Amino acid sequence: MKTGPKTRKMWERARQTMPLGVNSNFRYWGDDMTFVIKRGEGAYVWDMDANRYIDYRLAWGPVILGHAYPSVVERVSDVLKDGNVFAMSNEIEIRVAEKICAMTGMDMVRLTNTGTEATMHAIRFARAYTGRDKILKFEGHYHGFQDYTLFNCQPPIPGIGYRRSPVIVPHGSGTPRIISQLVECVPFNDFELLEKVVKDNWQHLACIILEPIMGNSPGLFPKPGYLELIRKLCDEHGIVMIMDEVKTGFRVANGGAQELFGVKGDLATYAKALGNGFPIAAIAGCRKIMGEIDYQKIPHGGTYSGNLVSVAAAEAVLDELEAGILKKVHAHGKKLMAGIREIISRKGIPALVQGSPGMFGIVFTELPKVFEYREWSSSNHGLYSEVLLRMMEKGVMPDMDSREPWFISASHSDADAGVALQAFEDALTEVMDKPKR
Ligand SMILES: Cc1ncc(COP(=O)(O)O)c(C=O)c1O
Repeated sequence: MKTGPKTRKMWERARQTMPLGVNSNFRYWGDDMTFVIKRGEGAYVWDMDANRYIDYRLAWGPVILGHAYPSVVERVSDVLKDGNVFAMSNEIEIRVAEKICAMTGMDMVRLTNTGTEATMHAIRFARAYTGRDKILKFEGHYHGFQDYTLFNCQPPIPGIGYRRSPVIVPHGSGTPRIISQLVECVPFNDFELLEKVVKDNWQHLACIILEPIMGNSPGLFPKPGYLELIRKLCDEHGIVMIMDEVKTGFRVANGGAQELFGVKGDLATYAKALGNGFPIAAIAGCRKIMGEIDYQKIPHGGTYSGNLVSVAAAEAVLDELEAGILKKVHAHGKKLMAGIREIISRKGIPALVQGSPGMFGIVFTELPKVFEYREWSSSNHGLYSEVLLRMMEKGVMPDMDSREPWFISASHSDADAGVALQAFEDALTEVMDKPKR
């Protein structure tokens, strides 16, 4: 697949001033295929050549309601004339904090702008609260582009070693090597290894940080009892449990994965769906920790935290969630998951459709279930990308990177699901019927 001439020309222009012609490495899909988008509306995006795509990437998750969703546009437009940042609180920000606490069951919240900042702050809060420096994270779990967790996260992870004693591998150059000494890492969903590493290290562990559903290996669930085990170990050893709900929050349930599984972290980080695409994130948590944030005690701040435009967007989203909009999102996701399962079973292709209806993934594998990064890594990513590339040619755009889930919005219609399923079946048939070399 190649992008159209206008898109290509615009990207050529972008690469003169922006490395790879993009503002995030993940947006570069090769010289022939890097998109420049003109606009989005509802479930669709249009590129510079006016090609329309049904968007199941949704900017990697934030756009829970749909692009340019009327109630969000209206609220944001309403506040634009009032200024945006004042280095003082505003009323909408306070209402949003109240609504986040009510919806998530957390006691207190601080707002920030991105998921990366939220996890960075949460880890600092945990370190300050416990007086310990180390963190424990899980293989394949991604917590943004801050240095403390940028290890063993984005596949492929060459040199990661044996699963019982993973080597701590940075995502690339630029992360001080010394930080790796502050990181313990284990495969997700391994009860025995987790207990062993906590037993050997608890005196130094400030936090265990996790994605309760792996949203950066597509929608892998925790095994029954696993989140409960993390909770128990944290309670026993005075470790702060940080639920990174940047992808799952306000998407898999109003109260996120913590509501879905009935296990609560001491701290939780939110971003993406909270703003429907506007930059807002939150660190929420129990009063015992959050109540200690103070001058000279636990630092936190940010020029743009709680800016009017972002909190207005968030308030519109939270109101839609309160009114039950996720039912619509999940109904669409269920339809797609069932349809894809039916297609792969009819064609006799070994594959799994895993995750929550709000964010699910397809894993081409012979395994009966996939629970962690190493199992998922052994699946057929080449087949996935080939199928997804052909879907894109047919105007349907989930991410062709197999680690990204399909994200669903409230604007996707039954007709979109029909088009998407037909495109998936046709793409799969084309790839399977292709003469093998
Ligand atoms: C689980 C998780 N945490 C943190 C982040 C970082 O968020 P942001 O890109 O807003 O900095 C991401 C981004 O995809 C994520 O998936």
